[in-house]
This record gives sequence, structure tokens and C-alpha cells, in this order.
Amino acid sequence: MDALNELLENNRAWANSINANDPDFFRKLANQQNPEYLWIGCSDSRVPANQITGLAPGEIFVHRNVANIVAETDFNVLAVLQYAVDVLKIRHIIICGHYGCGGVQAALENFRHGMIDNWLAGIRSLSRMHRTELEALEPAAAVDRLCELNVLAQARHVARTTILEDAWERGQKISIHSWIYRLDNGLITPLRSPIHAPIDFPAPEEKIAAGDELLNSD
Ligand code: CO
Repeated sequence: MDALNELLENNRAWANSINANDPDFFRKLANQQNPEYLWIGCSDSRVPANQITGLAPGEIFVHRNVANIVAETDFNVLAVLQYAVDVLKIRHIIICGHYGCGGVQAALENFRHGMIDNWLAGIRSLSRMHRTELEALEPAAAVDRLCELNVLAQARHVARTTILEDAWERGQKISIHSWIYRLDNGLITPLRSPIHAPIDFPAPEEKIAAGDELLNSD
């Protein structure tokens, strides 16, 4: 408990400092949240959404899981997405992965890690789709490339949910951003232009990838 006293003291100091600048801050926030952004990122402790984007409480709605996965069968992420789109009416969805992601690395390794291997099945499948490209790279570079491919794939998954397709059909303006964060310099890089509208199925690179998977399937 002693160890956690520091956290509670930090919390009081933080609340006091905000009150000193804006005595109404917490009262206003308690009455409503009106964020413009939904963040879907990795659980990694080194990638805290608010801090790395300089946003205050109330400004970004956040969902994090290991390796920033958007699985169409995951009610957790779907519930977050639906609430963010239909109720909060956020304008931007940010899928933010990071280089050196342990989850993505685990998906590339040929040994058991436990339950997490089931969670990472989609990334393992993605690595098989891109096997030729990944095998040509050094191990660390292969992890980083798969981190990028994973962000791009998860952004497409978001775009293809009924939640986004219905929102766009209604004329709601929502953009999906594919970002990646570098742990050793703290910088975010967009990987592609934002997705503003439904995308074709499959995307051109997925057609190639699907053929590759068939040729290489084991
Ligand atoms: Co990670």
C-alpha cells in the first residue's frame, strides 16, 4: 500500500494544479464529455494516448488492447466504437500502433506464449500473407514492418464494420487515421492518407496477399 501512496499523492497534486488554473474544470467535465477523437492503441505502458498527443481529460475517447487489434468478433472494441460513433459523434478514429510492439513480435515467433497466441491469431495470419516481404528483412525490421501492416489492416477492419458503413451512409463525417509511434523518439508518423468513406473489398494489396497466402499455406 505504501508504494501506491505515491500515486494517490500524485493524483491530489495533479487535481490541485488543474483547479488552480481552472476552478470549473472538473465540474464542467463531470457534466459531459465531448471528445472529437477515438484512439485505438496498444496497451503498452509507453504509449499513453493523452500524453503523446497533448490532449486533456475529456478530449479523447480511448480503447487499448495488446497490439491495437480491431477484431470484428470482439464486443469490447465494437461497443467502444459504436458508442464513440453513434453517441459521442466523434469525428476522427485513430488507430495507433508502435514500432517494437511485443504483441506483434510474439505473433512472428514460432513458440507458444499462452492465451495471447489466440488473441494474436489475426496478426499471425497477416504475417503469413506478407511472408515473402517479411522473410527478406532482418528480424527487428520484420517486426517493425508487421507493426505497420497491422495498423493498416486494423484501420481497414474499422472501415468495414457495420458501425462505420452505417455512419457514412447516414452522411456522418468520420475519418480513420493509420498512425505509428516510435518509442525511441516519441514521434508519430501517419502511414497512409485518412479513410473517409467505405473501402472496396478486398483492397488491392489484400488480393495479392490472399494469393500469396494460398501459395504459401502450410
Ligand atoms: Co504494443
